[in-house]
Amino acid sequence: MSHTETPTQRVALVTGANRGIGLEVTRQLARQGIHVVATTRSESMGQALVNEMTAAGLSVSSFVLEVTDTEQCQALFGHISKAYGRLDILVNNAGIAPDQWQSGFQLDIDLFREVMDVNVYSALRLIQLFTPMMQSQGYGRIVNLSSELASLATSEMGSTLAYRTSKGALNTVTKLLSLELKDAPNIKMNAAAPGWCQTELGGEGAPRTAAEGADTVVWLATLPEDGPTGGFYRDREPYPW
Ligand SMILES: NC(=O)c1ccc[n+]([C@@H]2O[C@H](COP(=O)([O-])OP(=O)(O)OC[C@H]3O[C@@H](n4cnc5c(N)ncnc54)[C@H](OP(=O)(O)O)[C@@H]3O)[C@@H](O)[C@H]2O)c1
Repeated sequence: MSHTETPTQRVALVTGANRGIGLEVTRQLARQGIHVVATTRSESMGQALVNEMTAAGLSVSSFVLEVTDTEQCQALFGHISKAYGRLDILVNNAGIAPDQWQSGFQLDIDLFREVMDVNVYSALRLIQLFTPMMQSQGYGRIVNLSSELASLATSEMGSTLAYRTSKGALNTVTKLLSLELKDAPNIKMNAAAPGWCQTELGGEGAPRTAAEGADTVVWLATLPEDGPTGGFYRDREPYPW
């Protein structure tokens, strides 16, 4: 590279970026000089986010995305292909936990389907859309927002069946797809447990801030070439499945 050329700016995609952990992941990635395409479900939320980040000198744009909407996902892929021609980092953050602390014996099966749709199938759809682009550019970091509640090894209580099953399934997606990518070692896919954080999902009584929860996610999103893949991490350390 001659001294007049500038390195290509990395581009990240963060879903559910208007609040909570997604907002903090967006901020922390942008602070590293990465351009973040932050998705929100409303145009006004996206504009407010871009205004806030731009005022702080950060490079963030927004895109309206309901993650369960296949056409919107395809439109997002078209937008990123056209505007940037690359995607370096995908953070599947959007998630719901509507059955928190409820008994699985009373769980509405339609609600279970909705949780799987948002937390698992939508993440998988974005992975399927963007991985070929990462393969052709020879670089990619995919982070799937999981939860320590998904860990069967450390579970000491029942309840929250839909949410926990969805995050367990997302862990399986992470592990098995990363094995399929063994011939593309510079594409790394990991699951992150952010810890219990003060967000709308986590509630006010949580011991961590959203910024603290974002730390492991951002670490996995910016792993070096010799970093791990196919793992489940909490506080930058492997966590039992
Ligand atoms: N907070 C915790 O303690 C904790 C612990 C472990 C794991 N996590 C995981 O971390 C991730 C972020 O959680 P959070 O605590 O930051 O939650 P949050 O404050 O409730 O934010 C969730 C985000 O996901 C978006 N979202 C939900 N459903 C969506 C859909 N169908 N399409 C598009 N966007 C959608 C929301 O958008 P709207 O504003 O439009 O609803 C919001 O931006 C989740 O995957 C969660 O499971 C959180």
